[in-house]
Amino acid sequence: MLATARTFTLDGLAARPVRVEIDVHRGLPGFTIVGLPDAAVREARERVRAALVNCGFEFPLSRIVVNLAPASMRKAGPGMDLAIAAALLCASGQLEWEGMDRFALAGELALDGQVRPINGALAIAEAARERGAEAIVLPAENGPEAALAGGVEVVPLTSLTGLPALADGVRGLEPEPLRLPLGLAPGAPDLGDLRGQPHLRHALEVAAAGGHSLLMVGPPGAGKSLAASRLPSIMPPLADAEALEVARIFSATGRLGAGLPAGRPFRAPHHTISAAGLIGGGTPPRPGEVTMAHRGVLFLDELCEFRREVLEGLRPPLEDGEVVIVRASGRRRLPCRFMLVAASNPCPCGRGEDDPDCTCMASQVQRYQGKLSGALADRIDLLVAVTQPAAEEIGGPPGESSAAVRERVCAARERQEARLGPGRSNAEMSPAEVRDCDLDPAAASLLADLYSRRRLSGRAHDRALRLARTVADLAGAERIGEGEMAQALQLRRRDRV
Ligand SMILES: Nc1ncnc2c1ncn2[C@@H]1O[C@H](COP(=O)(O)OP(=O)(O)OP(=O)(O)O)[C@@H](O)[C@H]1O
Ligand SMILES: [Mg+2]
Repeated sequence: MLATARTFTLDGLAARPVRVEIDVHRGLPGFTIVGLPDAAVREARERVRAALVNCGFEFPLSRIVVNLAPASMRKAGPGMDLAIAAALLCASGQLEWEGMDRFALAGELALDGQVRPINGALAIAEAARERGAEAIVLPAENGPEAALAGGVEVVPLTSLTGLPALADGVRGLEPEPLRLPLGLAPGAPDLGDLRGQPHLRHALEVAAAGGHSLLMVGPPGAGKSLAASRLPSIMPPLADAEALEVARIFSATGRLGAGLPAGRPFRAPHHTISAAGLIGGGTPPRPGEVTMAHRGVLFLDELCEFRREVLEGLRPPLEDGEVVIVRASGRRRLPCRFMLVAASNPCPCGRGEDDPDCTCMASQVQRYQGKLSGALADRIDLLVAVTQPAAEEIGGPPGESSAAVRERVCAARERQEARLGPGRSNAEMSPAEVRDCDLDPAAASLLADLYSRRRLSGRAHDRALRLARTVADLAGAERIGEGEMAQALQLRRRDRV
């Protein structure tokens, strides 16, 4: 007998539809899965067999062929177990499910028939809605995230034993959609912990206000890592649509178990990370750290310790706000609008060439700093030289709190959104929008002078303008004045020296 069921396979962040076709016929007993399954899909045979038997069903002693269509697309992961089991029960006459075709099923099976959670339930529910499915049967744990999709009924299932009731039309309560925490993480580290360092504080505020990338260079123990970890707390809260994008990424990478953490994502990968780990890749393509940091902060601590080719790989995502992974089977786009924050010592010993105690040879320093190639440096908006805080600063009162700084940042963002459109910041301005910036003649001549004297790249010129626009937004000024331009150039120290 023949039976079919609808399910999905996760590919990057997207769910692709798969039709499970099962043929059970007389012959030498066997269980074959065809249609480009990966190892996890092939192992479904063992899980489905044990789950059926342990739930009191019969495993048919016949020749069973499972075809996963379309046969030309690779299928990955254990999420197709449930659909295979349901179709097998229908094909062997143990389950009568009229209208099964209006349902989609996804879930991993445990050997005792429990339905285990899967990755990407939100993307799967959205894909089911787009394909016109009436309802989607999913592991109970994935119910709340899938309910975020809306427009498709979510039917949670805890065990294979619940299938016959479902086929008879009995459906439990629909799960409540996951609450998206848009505000700030309670108890998150506060910027008040950073004492002194007024220049660094100003740079953090400007970076957060305009979504600009930032590089801090300074000796060990000056507070660079401390400052970076406080950045999400001064950034504006996520908008509804942004929180949904973040939830989609958390769901696809299996990190939504305990709900979506409050606040913006903050990722700080270790410097030994591979290019695929940072940018994304592999087969099937998995999102990398840049995608996990979407709408948040990607912090590269000890930047010069990262392998050069890994850093070079950052250039396209920084520019385009998305990663494109091309495989023979097609191209996937993974979003990655993140704020790059990096920290580095000035040389291997950390003291800096200007320090008389610095023991590094010129060639060592050159090699160390060479990691930050001209091209990547060109894409970083703010460059801050951090020095050791003075004794009275480090022993002094705490700095201004995150809440106070965030208020100014949010006001500056509102001005940007009024000018550029919802959710957009100065760092994302197109070249045409940069040209539209209202500039004081004195500010224009300051920039033009620097451009010709320091032989800036066209990109550096535009970046300086974007930064000056943010400084003006923080000051509430409609027009970029000479003072704002000077501040912006000061924050891009590379252009000044
Ligand atoms: N400006 C500061 N205000 C308050 N505490 C500070 C400051 N600078 C350093 N500290 C203290 O020193 C610790 C180390 O600072 P942090 O890890 O940020 O240094 P770093 O600049 O990242 O050094 P490295 O280059 O070695 O990574 C902090 O956890 C904090 O306790
Ligand atoms: Mg550090």
